[in-house]
Amino acid sequence: MSIKTGTSNGVAHIEIARPEKKNAITVAMYQAMKEALDAARADNSVRAVLITGQPGIFTSGNDIEDFMARAPGQGSDAMDSPVFQFMRALIDCDKPVVAAVTGAAIGIGTTLLLHCDFVYVSDEARLAMPFVTLGLVPEFASSLLVPQLMGPRRAAQTLLLGEPFTPEQAVEFGIANAVIPAGEVVNHARRIAERFNALPMGAVREAKQLLKAPQREVVLQTIRNEGEIFARRLKSPETIEAFQAFFQKRKPDFSKF
Ligand code: COA
Repeated sequence: MSIKTGTSNGVAHIEIARPEKKNAITVAMYQAMKEALDAARADNSVRAVLITGQPGIFTSGNDIEDFMARAPGQGSDAMDSPVFQFMRALIDCDKPVVAAVTGAAIGIGTTLLLHCDFVYVSDEARLAMPFVTLGLVPEFASSLLVPQLMGPRRAAQTLLLGEPFTPEQAVEFGIANAVIPAGEVVNHARRIAERFNALPMGAVREAKQLLKAPQREVVLQTIRNEGEIFARRLKSPETIEAFQAFFQKRKPDFSKF
């Protein structure tokens, strides 16, 4: 089981649980997470959603083997792919979503945090968006939201150089709420999620919608624009070289591109 789900005390918990592959997310796992978000939204006993990984690893991002075998298509095909459906379900979730970043959060592991409402990072976490270093481009509105949060200079470090950043920087940049000791981050995030048991959910839902409304259309349009380029680049010789290098445990050679 690579995605574990369960609801207790008003919190729907989605746990990424594939530690042997550093919690890399496959198509089947995106489908399971989308279904869990839809179920949480429909269940009146759920007040908030909690997303966690495993000790030491939140997620190493898209499963690269899966990507090489069945990359999302272009155009409307891309929008139907499980990763798009999961991210759309996350963006459309009308209940608060709390993430506990239990360790490294790479690629979509960091991108998805931009669409959560509360983010708590373990003091052992490391965050990175190495799209360009894989021959790819930013995804799911990170090209819009990261410069807004960090400013254009630090966004260039993160998105063009693919430089990782620390948990403390995640807080400084406004990507995370707080750094929490590794052993306590999941419980801390759960306690935040459980606070919604005592709040009026009608007001919470409408307030969340208002917070998201000013940027909603531009976020969705940016996702479509990025998705077109991302899907095309997945088939590029640069990305093929980067993915092959990862599995051959060597540095990619981009000198000929
Ligand atoms: N997709 C598929 N497999 C992955 C993976 C991914 N994103 N990340 C890790 N794995 C696999 C490795 O291939 C390895 O498999 P093996 O044991 O069969 O050789 C296993 O998980 C352990 O990974 P490894 O790299 O040996 O662990 P590490 O502790 O040295 O490094 C990471 C951990 C997360 C830093 C490193 O795995 C990494 O950089 N992963 C890729 C991250 C990435 O580029 N993500 C963006 C994808 S778009």
